[in-house]
Amino acid sequence: MKIVCVTSSPRRDGNSATLAGMLLEGLPDAELRRYHLWDLQFQGCRGCMACRKTSDACVARDDATPVLEDIVRADVTVLAAPIYLHAVNGEMKSLMDRFFSFMATDHFKRLAAGEMYFPTRLSQGKTIVLVLAHGRPADFYHFLDASLRDIMLDKGFSEVEILRGNLLNSARDIHAREDLREKARELAATLRARYGATA
Ligand SMILES: Cc1cc2nc3c(=O)[nH]c(=O)nc-3n(C[C@H](O)[C@H](O)[C@H](O)COP(=O)(O)O)c2cc1C
Repeated sequence: MKIVCVTSSPRRDGNSATLAGMLLEGLPDAELRRYHLWDLQFQGCRGCMACRKTSDACVARDDATPVLEDIVRADVTVLAAPIYLHAVNGEMKSLMDRFFSFMATDHFKRLAAGEMYFPTRLSQGKTIVLVLAHGRPADFYHFLDASLRDIMLDKGFSEVEILRGNLLNSARDIHAREDLREKARELAATLRARYGATA
């Protein structure tokens, strides 16, 4: 199983990164690439549309380029973010905007031809795991789950899993949360069953 794990909180060892770590503990045999967005220099999508018209990848070259390339190759992408103002934090959103380039180059032609779906260049069968840490209660962010799930399916991921860390405020809160550790364990078991324990 090939995994890319991207963390994005300025609190490098905060709740979202720790919860992602709990998931990875259950996947010890995976081939793992890790990125922390605060170590990278990159910008969000520039809206040039080259990936829709002329290129089969994002034409912007910066530190997000290898992250996007690894996601194209991975079975499982883990994105860990704190919730800021009812959304993933800005650094994670900027990376997600670059996922626009996962849609197929002939997307506009197909839309014009009346094919109202979103052709993607990601291969079938990929999973994206969204690890979201926030202060509010568990059931508050269902609207966010719904929009993230929808957009990730659009971009070509076959499965969207959401690992939500609720009622987390100070950076150490996660360490007292056996319930979240258990959820991470359960999700790791699901991924092992989906992809096999080894590559
Ligand atoms: C700028 C900022 C905005 C926040 N906005 C929200 C919010 O809208 N909803 C919420 O539930 N928590 C909010 N929080 C709390 C964080 O989501 C929470 O502390 C989370 O556990 C942080 O994860 P981290 O430790 O990985 O950084 C906010 C925190 C900050 C610093």
